Amino acid sequence: MHNNKTKLQAPTTMASFSYLQCLLVIVTVTMMIPTTTNAAALTPNFYKKVCPKALPVIRRVVQKAINRERRMGASLLRLHFHDCFVNGCDGSILLDDTKNFTGEKTAKPNLNSIRGLEVVDEIKAAVDKACKRPVVSCADILAVAARDSVAILGGPQFWYKVLLGRRDARTASITAANNNLPAPFLNFTQLVTSFNNVGLNTKDLVVLSGGHTIGFARCTTYRNRIYNDTNIETNFATSLRRNCPRTSGVGDNNLTPLDPTPSSVDNLYYKALLGKKGILHSDQELYKGNGSESDKC
Ligand code: HEM
Ligand SMILES: *[C@@H]1O[C@H](CO)[C@@H](O)[C@H](O)[C@H]1NC(C)=O
Ligand SMILES: *[C@@H]1O[C@H](CO)[C@@H](O)[C@H](O)[C@H]1NC(C)=O
Ligand SMILES: *[C@@H]1O[C@H](CO)[C@@H](O)[C@H](O)[C@H]1NC(C)=O
Ligand SMILES: *[C@@H]1O[C@H](CO)[C@@H](O)[C@H](O)[C@H]1NC(C)=O
Repeated sequence: MHNNKTKLQAPTTMASFSYLQCLLVIVTVTMMIPTTTNAAALTPNFYKKVCPKALPVIRRVVQKAINRERRMGASLLRLHFHDCFVNGCDGSILLDDTKNFTGEKTAKPNLNSIRGLEVVDEIKAAVDKACKRPVVSCADILAVAARDSVAILGGPQFWYKVLLGRRDARTASITAANNNLPAPFLNFTQLVTSFNNVGLNTKDLVVLSGGHTIGFARCTTYRNRIYNDTNIETNFATSLRRNCPRTSGVGDNNLTPLDPTPSSVDNLYYKALLGKKGILHSDQELYKGNGSESDKC
């Protein structure tokens, strides 16, 4: 990502995707910090000596937040993704506007859309208290909270090791957020390009889109798909239209689950795509059912 600054950590959990006879790895963007001159390599044991309680404390607060609201796991996963796609996984998404820069929170893909910032604050406070000083980076908190969310909502087989030691950014960019975060109306070629731009390949695109096995989307993000797309199952489109009126206005923030089981990490997101029941246009772009590129996996 951004040249050689970031590497992807190989995901570990597999789920079978029978019809395409592909093995798809479900979930999470976990990237390394920029390897600039003063940055050491990341390691899963980064906090082992300096604060052994750090990871259990993060897990406890994430579990508590998910117990309050199941959707929060999805929201935390998405925060990590939206952090990583803008100048690497550096916590920049968390920064408020200053007189020197406008931050990422008000960028189009984030405004009225990202959730869970108050949970991140809660985690940070709990971790700083447990460690007795602020040693855990916010970027690492986002990465670990995303992993814990996936493991809590998917079960222990979805747990994976997270490399740690990211440094937090001191700046953020609304422009980079607007330019780099993929929009739901992109076509397949554009999605591939968006991922390529941060060092991720086509397989990464298909795998990481599996993040949509949890969480919800607002009507504004799939309205055009359910009224105008042809690559959508007819009855499915009809039923979605009931909760998402054609004209923008009062229904804009109505929610629909991104797959049939929005609180479980499973393979129903991919199965839905096979039935032309993807919620977002960008989801269905991954599978057109006629031998186009990504269908071959
Ligand atoms: C491939 C390009 C992607 C596009 C175009 C996209 C777009 C979207 C959109 C439009 C929403 C609904 C937002 C709203 O209604 O406010 C959403 C939700 C979500 N996305 Fe993505 N996304 C993509 C990739 C990813 C990736 C890589 C992940 C994580 C691995 C991810 C995780 C999520 C989650 C968990 C939600 C639900 C959040 C919640 O319920 O709060 N997405 N995405
Ligand atoms: C703005 O940038 C200047 C110069 O780099 C720096 O000294 C100052 O602390 C920054 N202000 C804020 C609020 O970040
Ligand atoms: C994808 O969208 C871009 C920009 O609108 C367009 O130029 C391109 O032809 C589209 N590609 C396909 C395969 O539809
Ligand atoms: C459907 O497409 C037409 C033509 O591009 C556009 O004017 C209209 O706003 C779209 N409808 C919805 C509900 O997005
Ligand atoms: C596959 O289907 C998509 C959308 O349904 C269409 O745009 C595309 O041209 C088709 N490709 C082939 C090779 O038939």
